[in-house]
Amino acid sequence: MLITEKSYFKYRKKILNLEDVPLPEIAYQVGTPFYVYSATAIKSNYEKFILALGELNYSISYAVKANSNIAILKLLGSLGAGMDIVSSGEYLRAKAAGIPGNKIVFSGVGKTKDEMNLAIEGGIKQFNVESESELRVLNSVAVAQNKTVTISIRINPDIDAQTHEKISTGKADNKFGIPYEDAEKIFQKASQLSNLKVSGIAVHIGSQLTDLEPYRQTFLKLAELVHVLKSRGHDVKSLDLGGGIGIAYSDNKKVIDLLEYGKLVKSVLGHLNCKFEFEPGRLIVGNAGLLVCSVLYLKYLKNKKFIVVDSGMNDLSRPSMYGAYHEIIPIKEENNTSRIKVDVVGPICETGDTFARDRSFPIVEEKDLVAFKSCGAYGSVMASEYNSRPLIPEVFVKGTNFSIIRPRPSIMSVIQRDIVPDWLD
Ligand code: LLP
Repeated sequence: MLITEKSYFKYRKKILNLEDVPLPEIAYQVGTPFYVYSATAIKSNYEKFILALGELNYSISYAVKANSNIAILKLLGSLGAGMDIVSSGEYLRAKAAGIPGNKIVFSGVGKTKDEMNLAIEGGIKQFNVESESELRVLNSVAVAQNKTVTISIRINPDIDAQTHEKISTGKADNKFGIPYEDAEKIFQKASQLSNLKVSGIAVHIGSQLTDLEPYRQTFLKLAELVHVLKSRGHDVKSLDLGGGIGIAYSDNKKVIDLLEYGKLVKSVLGHLNCKFEFEPGRLIVGNAGLLVCSVLYLKYLKNKKFIVVDSGMNDLSRPSMYGAYHEIIPIKEENNTSRIKVDVVGPICETGDTFARDRSFPIVEEKDLVAFKSCGAYGSVMASEYNSRPLIPEVFVKGTNFSIIRPRPSIMSVIQRDIVPDWLD
């Protein structure tokens, strides 16, 4: 039986549990703030996606950028996932999690020669190439290593994904991919390069898509392109459809029905005889994680009420960066239903360090724990040490067990990385 989100975040005896672990127990051991993820939720999200893809011929390459903790990669690897990576760091993380090179896809608009070398040497399934220059550089690296490298050409279909402008990637004026109308020319060029083998086409039009329509338009364009390329004698064996399927950041938000997504792929592209690649990130881990923090101060002014928490925009940057909404809930279940309007803010010295504005919020007290929901994707991975705040720990839960999968560094270990030159003395 598949588990719904509701069944792994549950109040028991008025305390929020993740799976079967009361969150205050973790807070007691690691301190706040911290990220915490449910292994069961991740597994369940992965399985729901698989179910939706049905009988298609496909592989899944989890987008490591969403959450790159090696423990999570290991779990997904054990479920059969490959990895979609965009840097040497992500490549080495995937390898450290035991993912074989032939299950790793290298995406990204700015791969360096060093990164190409590392991946070719260590083994790679395919590179998704995004420009003519990259094609030439990749070929020269492959020649130097005397290896043949499989590639897909990432196409920019000029489709509006109807998502936040900063995470929209499929419009003609975005930096990603090769213009749709140049595809044939690039295929021709690529097929003439000695050490590259073109397997197919890749697209990724954006992230946090909540409507199927942009996918439908993209897939229709893709089908047309495959016909054109085949008619000119090019073999198109694979279609990498990227990631982007959104999650519900609040209960009443409409999201894509996964079964409908699977049906759409089959109906528009299924007849092309291609193997599919999917690169979901957020869909797999987004709703499986929380950011837990403590209320430091209640600052109730005449015209405004602030709740100051101990996590900041450096720990979770999505609200300040994209104006993103994250539900915030108290860890102690409320006894009454009264609500007040508050701004939930962090300790960073910027007004942008605001997680929620005029949010209707239950009554909490100083030292209470609160949790930000849907923080499993693009939370910890986007954290910084701004204001000299060390990165916060990550904890993994399964059933009644929990383990620290990244400890909190000491402040000294952070500041000791700096070097004062001798000539300053
Ligand atoms: N494949 C490619 C080539 C990508 O660029 C991305 C995400 C994915 C797959 C995975 O997309 P997903 O399934 O997770 O939507 N920091 C932003 C999201 C940036 C996404 C970048 N690319 C946020 O916090 O919303």
